[in-house]
Amino acid sequence: MTARATTAPRGRWRRAWHAIDERLGLSGLAYPVPAHANGIGYILGGISFFGFLILAASGVWLAQFYHPTPEAARESVLYIMNAAPLGDIVRGIHFWTANLVMATVLLHMGRVYLTGAYKRPRELNWLIGLGLLTITVGLIFTGTVLKWDQEGFEALGHNVEIGDLIGAFGFWFSPTFGASLPIVGRLYIAHVVILPALGTFLLIAHFLLVKRHGISPLPADFDAAVDGGPEPSREGSTFAAHLVRMAGFGLIILGITTVLSLLVRTPLGGSPNPSVEVSKPWWMFLPFYPFEDWFGLPALLWAPGLLVGALALVPFVDRSRYRSPGRRRAFIVAGVLLLVALVALVAYALATPAKSHVAM
Ligand code: HEM
Repeated sequence: MTARATTAPRGRWRRAWHAIDERLGLSGLAYPVPAHANGIGYILGGISFFGFLILAASGVWLAQFYHPTPEAARESVLYIMNAAPLGDIVRGIHFWTANLVMATVLLHMGRVYLTGAYKRPRELNWLIGLGLLTITVGLIFTGTVLKWDQEGFEALGHNVEIGDLIGAFGFWFSPTFGASLPIVGRLYIAHVVILPALGTFLLIAHFLLVKRHGISPLPADFDAAVDGGPEPSREGSTFAAHLVRMAGFGLIILGITTVLSLLVRTPLGGSPNPSVEVSKPWWMFLPFYPFEDWFGLPALLWAPGLLVGALALVPFVDRSRYRSPGRRRAFIVAGVLLLVALVALVAYALATPAKSHVAM
C-alpha cells in the first residue's frame, strides 16, 4: 500500500469532522475541566444522567405494550415479560437501572456533602439537587404502582392515604378526582410525563449552574488557596473527554443491567388482594418504614419532610470557608451519624415482619 493510500482515509475523516464541526460547533465542547473531574467521585452525577437516558429509552419501549387500567395493567406486564419482543430484557434493564441510578444519585450527593461542594456559590445547585432526588424517588414510587401487583397495590393505598392527610391539596392523589380516568392512569401520566418533564427542567438548571461555577476544586486545594496558597487549577482535561468517560460508564451500566435482567427474573407479584397488607417497600423507602410502624401513616409525610428540610439547610448552616472534611468535623460526624441511623432503620425494617398500616 502506498503512503498516499494510508493517509487518504484519515484526511477524509478529518474533512468530514470539519464539515460537521463547522455546522454544529462540537469542538466547543473541548473546553478545559480539572483533571479530578474524571475521578469516580466527581463523575457520579454524570453516571446518574446516563442512567436516566437508559431509563428513558427502555421506558419508551415498555410504553408500547403497557396498558394503564386496573383491569389490564398487570396482564400487560405479563405480556411484556412473556410475549413482547425483547420485553423481558428491556423490563429488567429498566428495573435494575432504576436501582443503580438511585444508588449513584445518593453516592453523588454523598460526595458533594463530603467535599463541601454545596458551599458558596453552589447553594442553589444543592437545593436543585434535592429537587432531583425527590423526583427520582417519585419516579420509583409511581413505577412500583404501575405493575399493579400486590406490592404496587399497597403502594397505591399509601398514595391515597397520604393524599387524605395533605387535605385539600391532596386532591390529585384521590381516586375520586376525575372519575373519567382510574388513578393508575393518572400515576402513569405522572411517571411518563409530569415527573420526567419536571426532572428535565431541573436537570437543565443543574447543568447550567455546574457550567457556570465549574466543577468544585479538590477540598485540600481550595483550603490551601483560602490560606493564601495558589489558586486551584481549572485545567487538566477537557469536557469532551469527561463526556466520553461518562458515556463509557453509561455503557457499563447498560452491560450490568442487561446481564442482571438475563440472570435474575425481574419481580412481579400476584394479582392484588385488597384485604391484606403484606409487602415491604423498595430499599430506598425502608428507612421510613419503621416510622410508619411506630407513629402510623402520618410519619410518611413528616419523616422524609424533616430529612429533606434538614438537608436543605446544610449550605446555610455550614458557613466556614473551609471544605476539607478534616476542617468540617461537626458536619462530617453529623453525616456519618445520619448514615448509621439510616442503615440501622433499614436493618430494623428488614428484621421486623410486615405490618398493616393502611385502612382496609
Ligand atoms: C437526578 C440526579 C442528579 C444528576 C443527574 C446530577 C448531575 C450532576 C452532574 C453531572 C454534576 C457535575 C459533577 C458531578 O458529576 O459530580 C453535578 C454536580 C452537582 N450536583 Fe448533582 N445531580 C443529581 C442530583 C443531585 C443531588 C441529589 C444533589 C444534592 C442534594 C446534587 C448536588 C450537586 C452539586 C452541589 C453539584 C456541584 C458539585 C461540584 O461542583 O463539585 N445533585 N450534578
